[in-house]
Amino acid sequence: MSTTTTPTKKKTTAKASSASALPRVICHMVPSIDGRIVTTRWAGMKQLGALYESTAGHYEADGWIIGRVSMAAYVADQKGPTPRLRTSSPLPRTTWIAAADATSFAIAIDPAGKLRWKHGAIDDEHVITVLSTSVSDAYLAHLRAVGVSYVFGGADSISLRRVLRTLRSRFGIETLLLEGGGGINGAFLADDLIDELSVIVAPTADGSVGTASLFDSPRTHAPRALKLLAVEPRGDAVWLRYAFDGKRR
Ligand SMILES: NC(=O)c1ccc[n+]([C@@H]2O[C@H](COP(=O)([O-])OP(=O)(O)OC[C@H]3O[C@@H](n4cnc5c(N)ncnc54)[C@H](OP(=O)(O)O)[C@@H]3O)[C@@H](O)[C@H]2O)c1
Repeated sequence: MSTTTTPTKKKTTAKASSASALPRVICHMVPSIDGRIVTTRWAGMKQLGALYESTAGHYEADGWIIGRVSMAAYVADQKGPTPRLRTSSPLPRTTWIAAADATSFAIAIDPAGKLRWKHGAIDDEHVITVLSTSVSDAYLAHLRAVGVSYVFGGADSISLRRVLRTLRSRFGIETLLLEGGGGINGAFLADDLIDELSVIVAPTADGSVGTASLFDSPRTHAPRALKLLAVEPRGDAVWLRYAFDGKRR
């Protein structure tokens, strides 16, 4: 989450895995009691942020993935032209691994290549960006120069399933925290790619209209049923864990 939360990650060694396997995906978020997720006006975010961190640590994830809007908060200076570097020859639209020894990952879904990366790490987590094949060679050359890994999710739209497969088979990611915002969470929900939902329900009734919510799916789909795994009161907040019932893979 952009304001207060960078999840705790476990260091693991990348393992070889079958090309069809997907990482386990846990959607970990702090919604208000009415499902809004823009936290800037809420009280008590320092404590909620700490709670978010500690509960994220429970999953011992290899990485976290967020949408382009949420990731912009982690990438300094989003103004000015998109960085470009001249290339002498065309660059292939294939996975680029900038840090072969990385064991924990910060991943952005940025189909058009809008994020202006300056480094290949957030804290000590290696950055992977998910692109469409329509990005320019000059942008790819820039990513290579600053040490950002990239994977392609498709030409016109991103296939999240394909991306997950690549993250597992090429980067050894077995457990992944999906951390918003609503747009990216909704896309994972629509594609039935979430194994578990972990929410710290903030003791806040937000009430704003048109604000990003826990799931803002890009298309209409059947509501997904959930199975309660655990309920833990934490002060005035509650940590709720649910499995997705009847999830199709
Ligand atoms: N409370 C919490 O726990 C929490 C956690 C995280 C974030 N947040 C908040 O959530 C808000 C942002 O949420 P958001 O829904 O507006 O943005 P978001 O999900 O962070 O990012 C949405 C963007 O990601 C890209 N994207 C998402 N799904 C895609 C898909 N299926 N295919 C291709 N691209 C896809 C698109 O980028 P392009 O527009 O470039 O195409 C899209 O505009 C922020 O206010 C943030 O602070 C709250």
